[in-house]
Amino acid sequence: MPQSSPPPSSPTLSFTLNGKPVRLRQESPTTTLLHYLNQSGSTGTKEGCGDGDCGACTVVIVGEGADGQPQYQAVNSCLIPLGSLAGREVITVEGVANGALHPVQAAMVETGGSQCGYCTPGFIMSLFAAYYDGVVDDASVEGNLCRCTGYLPIRRAAQQVTGVQPCDAFASQLSQSSPRLEPWSLIQAEQSFFRPGDVRSLLNLMAGHPTATLIAGGTDLGLELSHKRRLYPVMISLEAVAELQGISQTPDAVTIGAAVPLSQIEQTLTGVFPSLDTMLYWFAARQVRNRATMGGNLGTASPIGDLPPVLLSLDATLTLVSQPDPEEALHERTLPVADFFTGYRETVLQPGEVIRHVTLPHTLSAGAVRRLSQSYKVGKRGTDDISIVAAAFTVDLDGEDRVVQARLGYGGVAATPARAIAVEDALIGQPWSGETVRSLKPMLHDAFTPLSDLRGSASYRRRLVANLFEKFFQESQS
Ligand SMILES: Cc1cc2nc3c(=O)[nH]c(=O)nc-3n(C[C@H](O)[C@H](O)[C@H](O)COP(=O)(O)OP(=O)(O)OC[C@H]3O[C@@H](n4cnc5c(N)ncnc54)[C@H](O)[C@@H]3O)c2cc1C
Ligand code: FES
Ligand code: FES
Repeated sequence: MPQSSPPPSSPTLSFTLNGKPVRLRQESPTTTLLHYLNQSGSTGTKEGCGDGDCGACTVVIVGEGADGQPQYQAVNSCLIPLGSLAGREVITVEGVANGALHPVQAAMVETGGSQCGYCTPGFIMSLFAAYYDGVVDDASVEGNLCRCTGYLPIRRAAQQVTGVQPCDAFASQLSQSSPRLEPWSLIQAEQSFFRPGDVRSLLNLMAGHPTATLIAGGTDLGLELSHKRRLYPVMISLEAVAELQGISQTPDAVTIGAAVPLSQIEQTLTGVFPSLDTMLYWFAARQVRNRATMGGNLGTASPIGDLPPVLLSLDATLTLVSQPDPEEALHERTLPVADFFTGYRETVLQPGEVIRHVTLPHTLSAGAVRRLSQSYKVGKRGTDDISIVAAAFTVDLDGEDRVVQARLGYGGVAATPARAIAVEDALIGQPWSGETVRSLKPMLHDAFTPLSDLRGSASYRRRLVANLFEKFFQESQS
C-alpha cells in the first residue's frame, strides 16, 4: 500500500508580495489577505463589500492555467485566507507600476476611467491579469463595480490594451514562475493550517482532526473569514491534493477533480456540455471562478447552488473517498448526484469522507439519435448574482423526435437541488412538440413547493419552473 507523509511543517507562513518575500510568524492563517494588506500598510487594495461582490479588493496571484502553465489570475483578496497563499506569488496595485505607469494604468488615465478612484485598484488588477492573457474585454472586469465613472471609459481602456503581446518584466517573471503548490503546514498554538499533497495524507489529517474544516477555493468559507473574522482552529486545504485535481475525457464521459477551479473547467470543456458552458458563464464573476470549485459548490449543499441542476440534468455521478482504517486501502463509493443531497444543507458525506471527483457521461440514452441540453439562471441581475431559480434540462430524442429520456434539474425550488421526476417520466415516448410541453406545464407548476423570500415569491418560482422548460423547448425549435 502506498505510504503517505504529512505535509512538512513550517514555522512561518511565507509568500511573495510584489516580488518581495513575506514571512509571517504570528499571523493567523485564516486572516484574509485583504485584512493583512490593509493592516500592514498596503492600503492601495480597497475594501468595498467584503464578500466577493464588488471587486474593489482584487489582487493577482500566479495560478495554474487550463494548459498547466502559470497564469496571472485575478482574485478577491477579501475571501482568501493567508494560509491559502503559502508559497504563492501575489501582486497588488502597489506592484504594477515599474518606474512608469503599467500599460493598463496608462490606458485608464488616457480614457478617464477613474473618478473617485475607490474601485480603480480593483479594475487595474483585473485588467492586469487579462492583459497577460492577451484578451482584455468586458468579461475581464465583470467582477468589478464602479459607482461613479460609468463603464464606457473603462471599456475603452480595456479595448486599448487588448491583443497586445506583453514582453515586459511581468511577462518574463510569469514564464519563470511555478504554479504548483507544495504540501505545507503551519501548526500554531491555537490554529493550524494544513495543505496535504495527496489524498492519503488528506484522509489521515481528517482522521487526526475530526473537526477540521476543509477549504478548497474558499469562496463560500471566505464570507465567514471576511465579515465574521471567524477563527477556524484547524483548516485543511484541498488545493494541492493531486487526486482532486485534473480533468480527464474519454469517449463516454468527462471526469472533473473536485478541487479544479471553475475557470479551468470553463476553458477546458468549452463546447462539450452546452448547459455547463451557459451556467459557468453566469456563475459569479471571474475573480470567484478563478478560485471556486465544483467540490465546494456541492460541499455547501446550498439549494441555490448553480451547478447541481446542471449535474442532475446530465446524470452526473460523484465519487467520494475515505479511509476507514489507515492500514487498509482507500474506500471509494460512486453515487448519482441526485442521491447526494439528503436535506437542507445536508448530504450523504460521512465524517472522514471527501468528494474526489464528478463524472459527467456524454453518451446518448439507448434508442436516442440526438440530445438537447441547456441551462438557465434567473436572478435579480445578469452576472454575479444568486439565483432565484436555476434550471438545466437534457432531453434525448429518437429518430422520430420522440422523447427517449428527459432530465429536468432545478435549484431554488426546494430544500435541495431536485429533479422533476414525475414530469421526466411523463415525457417518455411523447413527441417533442409544443403541445406536449404545454400539456405538462400544470404538472411542472406543481412539481415543487418553493418558499417565498426576498428574491422571489413562491408563486413566481413555480411559474419559472414551468416557463423555463417552455423556453427550453422554444429555443430547441430555432
Ligand atoms: C461573490 C460570490 C458570487 C457567487 N456566485 C455564485 C453563483 O453564481 N452560483 C453559485 O452556485 N455559487 C456562487 N457563489 C458561491 C461559491 O462561489 C460556490 O459555492 C463555489 O462553488 C464554492 O467553491 P469553493 O471551492 O470556493 O468552496 P469552499 O468555500 O472552499 O468550500 C465550501 C464548502 O464545501 C466544502 N468542500 C469543498 N470541497 C469539498 C470536497 N472536495 N469534498 C467535501 N467538501 C468540500 C468545504 O468544507 C465547505 O464546507 C458565489 C460566492 C461569492 C462570494
Ligand atoms: S471587498 Fe468587495 S469583492 Fe472584496
Ligand atoms: S471611480 Fe468611483 S467607484 Fe469607480
